[in-house]
Amino acid sequence: MELCEFTEGRAKIEVPKFEKVTAKTPVFYNPKMEFSRDISVSVMKTLKIKDQGKVLDGLSGSGIRGIRYMLESGTEVFFNDHNPVAVSLIEKNLKLNSLEATVTKSDFNHIYGKFEVVDIDPFGSPVRFLDGAFRLLKNNSYLFLTATDTSALTGAHKDSCRRKYDAIPLKSSFTHELAVRILIGKVVRNAAKYNFALRPILSYTKEHFIRAYFEIKYGKEKTNNALNNIGFALNCKCGYRRLTNEFNPDCPFCRQKVSFSHPLWISKIKDREFVSSCVKEYEALDFLGKKPLELLKTVENEIDAPLFYDIHELTHIYKTKIPKTEEMIKRLKEIGFNASATHFSSVSVKTDAEINDVLRCLDG
Ligand SMILES: C[S@@+](CC[C@H](N)C(=O)[O-])C[C@H]1O[C@@H](n2cnc3c(N)ncnc32)[C@H](O)[C@@H]1O
Ligand SMILES: [Zn+2]
Repeated sequence: MELCEFTEGRAKIEVPKFEKVTAKTPVFYNPKMEFSRDISVSVMKTLKIKDQGKVLDGLSGSGIRGIRYMLESGTEVFFNDHNPVAVSLIEKNLKLNSLEATVTKSDFNHIYGKFEVVDIDPFGSPVRFLDGAFRLLKNNSYLFLTATDTSALTGAHKDSCRRKYDAIPLKSSFTHELAVRILIGKVVRNAAKYNFALRPILSYTKEHFIRAYFEIKYGKEKTNNALNNIGFALNCKCGYRRLTNEFNPDCPFCRQKVSFSHPLWISKIKDREFVSSCVKEYEALDFLGKKPLELLKTVENEIDAPLFYDIHELTHIYKTKIPKTEEMIKRLKEIGFNASATHFSSVSVKTDAEINDVLRCLDG
């Protein structure tokens, strides 16, 4: 097997030579996901999981993610992959970086032990690893996960979303936020049967993937409270939208029937203070990429208002000129609302204003 070397962050790794990134290579490595790994390093640094903490890189591939956690945030990492070729490559890559760690060749769902952090970075959907992950987690631990099946979560493949996430997706201008919320909703509901209350501390979407980070607490009461944050997203042709746990099919503004997505997470999708700490940790690591930091800062400054308004969509419906995103944010603030940009879409605003007040800010 011919190998080639990559440098990413502080790590050097060898992977099988490839022409294009595909799940069919003997051991998977996608250089583009450096973006997600850079952010994960800042998350790990923020959580201060040090020597005492055990981190599981449960679907390691080449080992790049775990190796970077070890080198860049000083955590103890356990590696696992069911592919024997990956396992020998992880061992080789650990040596290449002068590191020592436990590497197992197991099906993820058969790993045993308890961990402070479990990271699931699969091909496609993480759902088939959730039960396995909750066996490995405990009170005050963290779950990190990636989903690359955005076609299911965004409703392009509706049946696939129903099968994997037990949810009805909805195509809309805010589809990508709904995708994140459907994913979070599924993880929270799955955790509930183990009396685990999950809270997303950071989540974002970028091109073909979603990444979400959860804090885990054990307890029936806390879990019941977490489940209260599962509900509906409503969307009307007039621009009205809402996250709610009370379904009402009639739009309060124009009385048309709304379309909906359900069940999904209707509460905050990040903890602002936590994201601010990630930004600080990120800035201190000057070898990390600039683009992920930009995204992290946009997420940090996103107000926690549910969903967002796509300015192009509204100007299309109401046949007005298109104001700039910054101009819309300024106008909304001038009339007393909170507003911000959103990483989900550069032509959209997040605001606590309802559609009637948003329309007041469009060009006449
Ligand atoms: C997307 S790759 C991981 C990429 C890696 N985390 C990175 O950052 O480059 C998914 C990995 O999961 C492994 N895998 C798939 N199903 C598995 C299972 N049931 N148990 C253990 N490993 C599995 C595959 O062999 C593959 O290496
Ligand atoms: Zn309406």
